[in-house]
Amino acid sequence: MEIKVSLLPEEKRGSVPEDESQLGFGKIFTDHMYTTFFKDGNWRESCIEPFGPFVLSPAALVLHYGQEIFEGMKAFRQTTKKDVSLFRPEKNAERMKDSAKRISMAPLPEDQFLDALHKLINIERKWVPHNPGTSLYIRPTMIATESLLGHRKSNEYLFYIILSPVGPYFKEGFKPIKIYVEPKFVRAVKGGVGEAKTGGNYAATLLAMDKAYEVGCSQVMWLDASEHKYIEEVGTMNQFFVLDDVVYTAPIAGTILKGVTRESVITLAKDKGYKVKEEFLSIDTVTEAIDSGNLTEAFGAGTAASIAPVGELHYKDKKYLINNYEVGPVSKDLYETLIGIQYGRIEDPYGWNVVI
Ligand SMILES: Cc1ncc(COP(=O)(O)O)c(C=O)c1O
Repeated sequence: MEIKVSLLPEEKRGSVPEDESQLGFGKIFTDHMYTTFFKDGNWRESCIEPFGPFVLSPAALVLHYGQEIFEGMKAFRQTTKKDVSLFRPEKNAERMKDSAKRISMAPLPEDQFLDALHKLINIERKWVPHNPGTSLYIRPTMIATESLLGHRKSNEYLFYIILSPVGPYFKEGFKPIKIYVEPKFVRAVKGGVGEAKTGGNYAATLLAMDKAYEVGCSQVMWLDASEHKYIEEVGTMNQFFVLDDVVYTAPIAGTILKGVTRESVITLAKDKGYKVKEEFLSIDTVTEAIDSGNLTEAFGAGTAASIAPVGELHYKDKKYLINNYEVGPVSKDLYETLIGIQYGRIEDPYGWNVVI
């Protein structure tokens, strides 16, 4: 698929701020974006063009019925060479296609997704920051653009990719975070859209996030919708626990996001000889195991934060301290291997890195 490229003149282009420690997360954007649109049953012209606003009808279906999906992935500056690499991008292309199917949108062919990504990153490669812990965050997005107030799926879509140089997701960096376990509201139900990466799943969590911030936590942990008992995942991460020397994470059963980091962590953990179980743990099992000392570590895994150790859970007005609020050995081991591979510091025996 041919991409029409129209670039900003050199003197109008920006760059990564000199002090990369000020990057934050998702606040600044690179010079260019990729766009393509779907109309009359086909994907149409593809462009790489200057980053800027879209013209959208106030009646665009996305604005009323939330027909929207997105992805989150990263490009890493390799520390051993000057190369830039993507981490398992084919997984995001596949998940975006699955999300499109669930939200009744026209899926973008995976090879077109990957080709667009390669070409855009190649043009914007100077925007991939250099400091340890920094990367270029990639946000492929698709929205329903048909102008119509009737409730039905759109016949027109805009797919675009924007890029943002980022620092660590949590201000804490690789230090334990506090997590608020939501006892009443739920994120996803069986048969719902929890497994799709669609905006509504995130809108539904904002109220509980206010509560989490109020009590000094950085994210919300979600329990299952029918019994409010089993731990599913955390705001933007899949959740792991180390209990009786076994690494646990919830299974992919329709309500949680099929995390690329989750799958990578499971592979690394198994290859390192840890016992791994994809099983639901109840919040009562977890809090009791924290109290008895059998639960030794907890951590979240996701693209934005990579691996985030959890040092405290807040559940029903009680606080549960995990591993004395210190990073545990399993979290540290997995974190170092994962980011070591992502930044090219250690060998990638899995072929996960795709060099651009
Ligand atoms: C709800 C949710 N769960 C899990 C994840 C982790 O997924 P991944 O590792 O693919 O980033 C994310 C991140 O996008 C998320 O938003």
